[in-house]
Amino acid sequence: MLRYYTAGESHGESLIAVISGIPAGLEIDQAFVDRELWRRQQGFGRGGRMRIESDHAHFLSGIRNGKTIGSPISIQLENKDWKNWEEALPVRAGDPAKHKAVASPRPGHADLAGALKYDLPEARYVLERASARESAARVAVGAIAKLLLRELGIDVLSHVIAVGSAANEGEASWDQLVALHAKNEVLLNCADESAEQAMKAEVDKALRTGDSVGGVFEVIAHKVPPGLGTYANWDERLDGLLASAVMSLQAVKAVEIGRGIHAATSFGSTVHDEIGYSSQEDNNAHTRFTRPSNNAGGIEGGISNGEDVVVRGYLKPISTLRRPLQSVDFKTRETVKAAYERSDVCVVPAAGVAAESMVALTLAKCALEKFGGDSMTELLRNFKGYCEQIEKF
Ligand SMILES: Cc1cc2nc3c(=O)[nH]c(=O)nc-3n(C[C@H](O)[C@H](O)[C@H](O)COP(=O)(O)O)c2cc1C
Repeated sequence: MLRYYTAGESHGESLIAVISGIPAGLEIDQAFVDRELWRRQQGFGRGGRMRIESDHAHFLSGIRNGKTIGSPISIQLENKDWKNWEEALPVRAGDPAKHKAVASPRPGHADLAGALKYDLPEARYVLERASARESAARVAVGAIAKLLLRELGIDVLSHVIAVGSAANEGEASWDQLVALHAKNEVLLNCADESAEQAMKAEVDKALRTGDSVGGVFEVIAHKVPPGLGTYANWDERLDGLLASAVMSLQAVKAVEIGRGIHAATSFGSTVHDEIGYSSQEDNNAHTRFTRPSNNAGGIEGGISNGEDVVVRGYLKPISTLRRPLQSVDFKTRETVKAAYERSDVCVVPAAGVAAESMVALTLAKCALEKFGGDSMTELLRNFKGYCEQIEKF
């Protein structure tokens, strides 16, 4: 069974990620994993923290001679900022005068709910773990899931659909996403240049006015075979699993599969993807059944149907504002402005990269459940047998 866990605080010594259930014999490309981490750190609108960190996956276990050995893989990501926080956040009892309290909770952040829940006098330890710095650890294990999926011919990428009120109305092709992914400079990870400039203007406006701005990203999983997930049990439906995984990312407040939101206000005849059959072999498809459209986002009845799996995430604007909203001082109970500390202003491209990881981890889990295998040899043999079966269907 594929399982993963993360640990670590935003300004602690390091983040840790553990993933188990990856078959033995998967080649781990260190440069690929580090590039994924780099991608999560990019995007116009990020704060100063991302200039301090340059994430690198330090593998501690589960890999020997560049390949997985079937045992749990643990990864350490060093926090370079730790040296600036070591005295404020010591593991052993330290000097309370050096503690950096978060005195007034930020509306929209975990500060107040977390302090109440864990009986903490202020929100420092809440934000240390609630912070999306944690998503770097998910990207590290997500990169391993992507490497596994690649062996099955599946790739997962994302792009940005909207930032504030600026939107890319056109659809992005898979080739456009591949070209975006190859870029060594990331502005807003948008496939349309003029839409990207409009998005940049939205971020500039937020930067100028001490505000923040949210948006929408889209994750596409390409060449997913039909048959992942099932309607047989509610908790095994692929759409439900993906929604939960993507929604679990910090600041994601809605998830859409395919054109789900548009479909809710449309007639069935304009929404459902008609079914055809081709006598020609298509290298991008696992079967000869064809669909002229993909409004279902590659999932019907909780099962992948062979089309690209398409998941959108809707991000609220970041809650740390340079022009803070009203709050209450934890100690005095007086009305004050909410706490401010160095923060991002727009994180939609980064959230898209983290969501790619969550989608990849979910698809890898479903693929391992369907095809099984303790080694890559076994997994690939089973996968090949299934592909032959559906080709002949
Ligand atoms: C990649 C990424 C970076 C983020 N950076 C910040 C940040 O710098 N400041 C901030 O207030 N929130 C940031 N957030 C959002 C908060 O982590 C999130 O709003 C908070 O933990 C509360 O959780 P919720 O919004 O899911 O309720 C970021 C989110 C993501 C996905």
